[in-house]
Amino acid sequence: MKYVIGNDHGGIDLYESVKEKIESMGHVVIHVGTNGHESVDYPDYAKLACEKVLSKEADYAILICGTGIGMSMSANKIDGIRAACVSDTYSARMSRAHNNANCLCIGARVLGNELANMIVEEFVKTQFEGGRHQKRVDKINKLEIR
Ligand code: RB5
Repeated sequence: MKYVIGNDHGGIDLYESVKEKIESMGHVVIHVGTNGHESVDYPDYAKLACEKVLSKEADYAILICGTGIGMSMSANKIDGIRAACVSDTYSARMSRAHNNANCLCIGARVLGNELANMIVEEFVKTQFEGGRHQKRVDKINKLEIR
């Protein structure tokens, strides 16, 4: 699988370890985030990363900012993106198993590196269960206003 990681300056310190975690699980990482601590605007990076998912250059997006909140608000404005802002491993698993999230948002200023990587691992290894959840995800998708 291919994972695109987008981060702002608040997420840069977590980026490397998340990249290593995903690669250690046998997946490919594309980076579209900023590389430094200079202040940037997270919606720009949410857009860059989510466009890679929509174009199928990546299967999933991982977005990292200070809290994960700005990234998730931005990503969920984009049709076709189902972004989950997550701070625990159970929610990370359920975001894939039940919600078929295609975008994980995490906060570098909220989580330590170890918990962040556990969350990422859970997201990466969990498959969507389909079944009764498919119809609910279809209803989420129908909420998009065209
Ligand atoms: C940047 O200072 C910070 O606001 C951003 O990284 C993020 O936490 C926004 O939701």
